[in-house]
Amino acid sequence: MSRRMSIAVLYNFTGDDEYELLRKQVKEGLVDSPTGNREDLEDISTVKEEIQAIVRALREEGFAVRAVNVRDDFARLLECLTSPRPDIVFNLVEYFNDDALQEDCVAALFDLLRIPYTGSPPMTLAICQRKALTKQILKANGVPTPRYKLVAGKPIPRLSGLRYPLIVKPAWEDASAGVDEQSVVDDREHLESRVLNLFKEFSQPALIEEFIAGRELGVSVLGTRSPTVLPVEEMDFSTLPPEYRGIISFESKWNPMHEVFHKGELVCPARLSRAVQKRVKNLALRTYQAMGCRDYARIDMRLDDHNRLYVLEVNPNPDLTAGVAFMASAEAAGLSFSQTLRRIVEEALARGPVERDALRGKQAALAAKT
Ligand SMILES: Nc1ncnc2c1ncn2[C@@H]1O[C@H](COP(=O)(O)OP(=O)(O)O)[C@@H](O)[C@H]1O
Ligand SMILES: [Mg+2]
Repeated sequence: MSRRMSIAVLYNFTGDDEYELLRKQVKEGLVDSPTGNREDLEDISTVKEEIQAIVRALREEGFAVRAVNVRDDFARLLECLTSPRPDIVFNLVEYFNDDALQEDCVAALFDLLRIPYTGSPPMTLAICQRKALTKQILKANGVPTPRYKLVAGKPIPRLSGLRYPLIVKPAWEDASAGVDEQSVVDDREHLESRVLNLFKEFSQPALIEEFIAGRELGVSVLGTRSPTVLPVEEMDFSTLPPEYRGIISFESKWNPMHEVFHKGELVCPARLSRAVQKRVKNLALRTYQAMGCRDYARIDMRLDDHNRLYVLEVNPNPDLTAGVAFMASAEAAGLSFSQTLRRIVEEALARGPVERDALRGKQAALAAKT
């Protein structure tokens, strides 16, 4: 019998897991949920649990799996790639040296070592981490994205051509970092104070974008050789108290002690007309291909009141937590958690260690036929 394929699931997590701390506090009766229901706090999975779920599912699929937290430590990263050398890496590393802009360097290391790995290549990771650069490429490919200006320092220029309300976001962050209710501004005064705050807090350029009021869609794509768009997910804001704008803010995504975390409802598949669905899917595929995404990605979009679609940003190697976002869409497509992970691994294995080699293989096969 042949040896089982070995997978190293790599992730990078440093510091304390706040959900673990919170759970302990709930158990000890030190904190109460803002919803009045304790279970709402207890059910949130920790990083460790999320990784364990992936490991377990890959084992169920017959792989020999080990998970390594590289802990921002290069020697450790190198060691788990060399002794023993895995057949393939499941790449869940999202930053290195505490810096999201180094996410792509980690994938580049797999390329240098010629180890196959899941997900997007370094260039795609590097570009998608830079929101304004992504928008330029989208525009060049005819993909609609909100009008914007990138501001890297003082003085803040005049923003002719942009119409309020605007939203101010850090240009190089992820996962709603730096996005809260005050990110949306209605006049120059608030805009300036927000941009200056962002410079201070994030030490990076500010992306100022036209705010698109409307519906929020998460569009997941699975596959590389023949990518498919999975059922669309919507974050329905209609249950939010009226004082909120309806955005995926940092608090709403990460802070269970805030009431807004427990509001808003994920709907999958989103209720969309056939015509809109078709446009969403075409746009998602065009975006996926324009950015050079591989294996799996999630594209954040908005649909305004005139049924116009805008791509907000592209997430290569998106979150794989069971039951939400990418995985909710996969489930709605009839794929189980472990089947979805297997598909991702199979795509990466079919590609082999270096993309160019896969192409050479294809060319050789074609040449042999002619
Ligand atoms: N131009 C925009 N119009 C409306 N809402 C926006 C816009 N840009 C961002 N948002 C809101 O902020 C959230 C986070 O922004 P996004 O660009 O997706 O960054 P990230 O998810 O990487 O932090 C979005 O999901 C959306 O709710
Ligand atoms: Mg987003």
